[in-house]
Parts: sequence; C-alpha cells; structure tokens
Amino acid sequence: MSEEPTANGDEDGGEDGSEGVVRRDRFSGGPARGFLSSLSADERIFAADLAVDRAHVVMLAEQGIVEADTAGEILAALEEIEDAGHDALSEGEDVHEAIETAVIERAGPDGGRMHTARSRNDEVATCIRYRLRADLLDAIEATLEARGALIETAEAERETVIPGFTHLQPAQPTTVAHWALSYERALARETARLLDAYDRTNQSPLGAAAFAGTPFDIDRERTADLLGFEGTMANAMDAVSARDFLVESTAALATLATTLSGLAEDVVIYAKSGYVEVDDAYASTSSIMPQKKNPDTLELVRARAGDAAAGLNGLLTTLKGLPRAYNRDLQRAGGHAWRAIDGVSEATEVAAGAIATAEWNDEALADAAGEGFSTATGVADALAMAGVPFRTAHEVVASAAEVAGDDADFDALDAAARDTLGESLTAYVDRETIEAALDPAESVASRDSAGGPAPEAVAEQIASARDDHAADSDTLAERRTAIDDAAEKLQAEVETYV
Ligand code: ARG
Repeated sequence: MSEEPTANGDEDGGEDGSEGVVRRDRFSGGPARGFLSSLSADERIFAADLAVDRAHVVMLAEQGIVEADTAGEILAALEEIEDAGHDALSEGEDVHEAIETAVIERAGPDGGRMHTARSRNDEVATCIRYRLRADLLDAIEATLEARGALIETAEAERETVIPGFTHLQPAQPTTVAHWALSYERALARETARLLDAYDRTNQSPLGAAAFAGTPFDIDRERTADLLGFEGTMANAMDAVSARDFLVESTAALATLATTLSGLAEDVVIYAKSGYVEVDDAYASTSSIMPQKKNPDTLELVRARAGDAAAGLNGLLTTLKGLPRAYNRDLQRAGGHAWRAIDGVSEATEVAAGAIATAEWNDEALADAAGEGFSTATGVADALAMAGVPFRTAHEVVASAAEVAGDDADFDALDAAARDTLGESLTAYVDRETIEAALDPAESVASRDSAGGPAPEAVAEQIASARDDHAADSDTLAERRTAIDDAAEKLQAEVETYV
C-alpha cells in the first residue's frame, strides 16, 4: 500500500469501496508479506491506534467531513474491535490497516471514511508518541521510587562510616548516606531528562497526512487536545519524519541505565567485602556451591545498561541518513525504544527494591573505614589549618604513610614531621587534633562543607532531595492527570455518537 485511500475511496479502489483490501492483494500478499508486516509488533500500539482513530473520527464529524451517523457506526465498530482485542485482527500489514479493514467489515464501505485526511504516516507517528509518553511516565515513576529508597537509606545511615574509594583504592572515609545521596542526585537528573523527553514526545503529528498536508478542513488542535497532546507539530513533513523523540527518550534511558550500572557495581563490590547484605529476594545461589549467595539481580541491572546502549545505537543507525519524508525503515525504529524502556524501567524498579531491603553492616564498615590510611588527607588538612602550607603537610603525611602504612599514628607522623619540618608536630597542632583526624568518624564529621559527608551537611542534602522528590512527584501526577482527563473527554465525545 504505497498510497493512502481517499475520502470517497473510488479513485484507487474496488467497486465495493474497500480499496485497502484490493491494493493489499496486489502489493503485499506475496512472499515478502511477513517481512513487510509489523502487525504482531504493533500490539504495543493497538490501544493507541484506537484512541487516535476515535479522536480523528470525532474531529471529522465535528468539521462536517463525515456525517454524524457514519461517525457513530465507525466508533461503534472501533468499540467491538477493542473488545475483540489485537489478536483478533487478521487482515493488514500493520495495525492501522488491520483496524481499518475490521472497521470496514463491520460498518461497510462507509467505514473507509475513517482514513479521510490522514495517512498511516501521521497515524503511526501519533500512536508511537501516545504510547511512549505513558511508558515514559512509568519510567519516571521508577526513578522516583529508586530515589525514595536512596533517601530513606541516607536517613537511616547518616552516621554509618564507610570507606570511600578512588581507583578502587581506599581514599577517604565517608558515610553510607553520602554514598546513597550521590546516586540520588544522579537519578534526579535522570528524572529531569526523562521529563524533558516526555515534553517533546507529547506533541501531535496527526493531520500531517502523508507529509504534505490535506485539502480537508481538519482541526489539528482538536485531535491533539482529545488525545492529551500539549500541542501540534508545526510542519507536516517534520511531523511524519521525526523520530528524534525516540532517540532522546532512548538516550535518557541509556543514561539512566548507565547510572544504575555504577550503583549496582558498587553494591556488588560492597557485598563482596561484607559491607552490605543484599536481601534474599534480590540474591541467587549456585547450583553447585551450596554456601553461595550472589547479588545476581544487581549484576543483571548492570547488564541492562549494555542492552540500552545497544538500543540507542540501533536506533541512531536506523535513522542516520534517512531522507525526507516517510521511509519504511521507520517501522524498525520503535522496537529499539520499546525494548529500552521496558528493560530499563524494570532494572530501575529492581535496583530500588534491592536498595530498600539491603542491610548495611555497621561493624564491618567501621573496621574498613580507616583501612589504607584513608584518614591521611584529613591529617594533612589539620596541619594545613594550623598554618603549614598544604604541600608541606602533604609531604609530612606521605612520608609517615611510606614508613608506617596503615599503622600511621601520632608517633609516626611526629617522626615524619621532625624529618621534614625539623620540628615536632606539636609545634603546630596538639596531639588530640591529630588523633581526631586519624579517627574515621571524626574525619567524616569534620568535612561539613556543602555537599560533604558530615551528618549536618548530609541533613541538608536529604532535605533538598526530599523537596525535589516531592516537586517531581507533583509534575508526574500533573502529566498523568492531563492524560487521564483527555481520555475521559474523548470517551465522552465518542458516547455522543454511539
Ligand atoms: N507500519 C508502518 C510503520 O510502522 C506504518 C506506516 C506505513 N506507511 C507507509 N507509507 N508505508 O511505520
């Protein structure tokens, strides 16, 4: 079917007006029939297509393009088709043709008026946007769930000291709360990216027709409004060609999955060191080694980032170099986005559950927090605060670290000071100050700069994370309400005809 049926249907069509069927027999009944077909994959947009059909038919009737009676028959047929479900569709190379054919079977040749002033090109673009926006809201909800779990972890573990790493080497002590909030902040940006993608997805291409508009006096604002879109796409050629909303959404999902993969990796490493125990519900065992409890769910979360990145790559490669306006390659674009959104939303929910149920082992963490002389920077800071140039202080502490390693204590530092500065440490600071700097918990408590791990600094971060979470939850609720209101409005309009 290379062209679209016209309103009166007799130009390309058979005598009975069911021109769609006739043309399909000629063009896509051969050996490539299955290759051309997207019917089974289109189950994803079955409900979206019915909504788009309804809004379009209501608008055609309001504009006097189809008679109210005809609209009523088409809308009644759509209801039966919805009840029968996607699996009952038989004829057609995609869901749009199959539903149209099913309408014509029920309403007769007048059913063919449904496809007046539109094309499958604007129709499919509208359906994908309609379905994707609902999926995006679910993905956004999953990010909020994960953020909530991280905020609760931060609240509960504000004073739980933990080793902090760079290059996976012990670096400076911090807290579980500070670690959890580091991911919460990253996930807040993932929420924001998905919301941005949502707003650009939620624009209506419907009424662009094949790409070149239509002579019918349609009302594009009306269909957009009935479908809950925030606006219409201004250029018809852009409207049918554009899939950057899929790229943007998939990129946001791949970014989210990449953030989650880091979180999952941290938990895998922490579980290996006994810092944290993943709940049984998120663990797995070995078929041969009876003692094993493995953090498999987090490893699978980590792997989903690969799937999402592959989807983004597949999508970009499919779209690259496509000429204007519609090309059938576009039929292969949606799948990448659907797989990404399903896979990443699920991974986000699993990560949220694993975090919410994880048990942090305070004792193992306290023992580990000072390992590798991780308080060294704090000691150098204490000397620098007492007036020693930081670079000199760094040298003193480095020399103690070299001699005493993990066991660097006041005496080791004092010996290093005598070597390097030619004086005792006590010429600059008292013993208590150095001993406090050597204590992991005190070391953490001293780092109270904005964004730091000291419990007061973390309390502020928790408060602003809670505010942002509440604001984003409100935005999500507003988006959901707008969609639900539009669906109700459309249903009410449909009922005036049926
Ligand atoms: N199944 C097609 C898709 O998903 C619908 C549009 C077909 N349009 C066309 N001119 N062949 O993209």
